[in-house]
Amino acid sequence: MDAFDLLHGRNSVAKLCEPAPGKEALENIYRAALRAPDHARLRPWRFLSVTGDGRNKLGELYARALAARNSQATVAELDKARGKALRAPLIVVVVACIQAHPKVPKVEQLLSAGCAAHAMLLAVHALGFAGIWRTGANAFDRMVMDGLGLAANEELIGFLYLGTVDGKAKPLAELNVADYVQEWK
Ligand SMILES: Cc1cc2nc3c(=O)[nH]c(=O)nc-3n(C[C@H](O)[C@H](O)[C@H](O)COP(=O)(O)O)c2cc1C
Repeated sequence: MDAFDLLHGRNSVAKLCEPAPGKEALENIYRAALRAPDHARLRPWRFLSVTGDGRNKLGELYARALAARNSQATVAELDKARGKALRAPLIVVVVACIQAHPKVPKVEQLLSAGCAAHAMLLAVHALGFAGIWRTGANAFDRMVMDGLGLAANEELIGFLYLGTVDGKAKPLAELNVADYVQEWK
């Protein structure tokens, strides 16, 4: 795929189905993440692949976290939380590993992890698969972070739900460069 077709055409897809990227594709996707811009080469990221029964366990974690956040949550709401982990055949959890550094503040490390996430979405698209970056309450919930094994210096940047487009991809937003770019004199 032409590089600009990829950069201009990447599209998030909420409705995903099998197949997920396989072993070789996933290796390439992670290699794209490892090319994220990274001040002082801290490599301030790591990734968790969640597939198969791991998704059921993640769904249970989502439900437990919801129950802890809201003791009034209904059975239907807890079921819905469980189901969120089954929205795609593969979930990549993007983790920022924040390190103390005299020249690289936390925000730069979070941005580097964000760039890694974007690189993965581009790689997924280039390989003919699709995905969407989601956060929501689960990404900021300590119970979810603990359940996934995140350390105290780590933050959950997002869940990349990955698979194959189920149905039709949404139309791309038409944005004008001129609306977002000014010349500064
Ligand atoms: C940090 C971050 C968190 C996001 N969280 C969610 C989310 O929880 N739910 C959601 O529907 N979209 C979320 N999005 C937006 C989608 O990933 C996506 O960008 C959006 O649907 C627009 O589609 P597009 O990427 O094709 O323009 C998030 C995006 C970012 C960058």
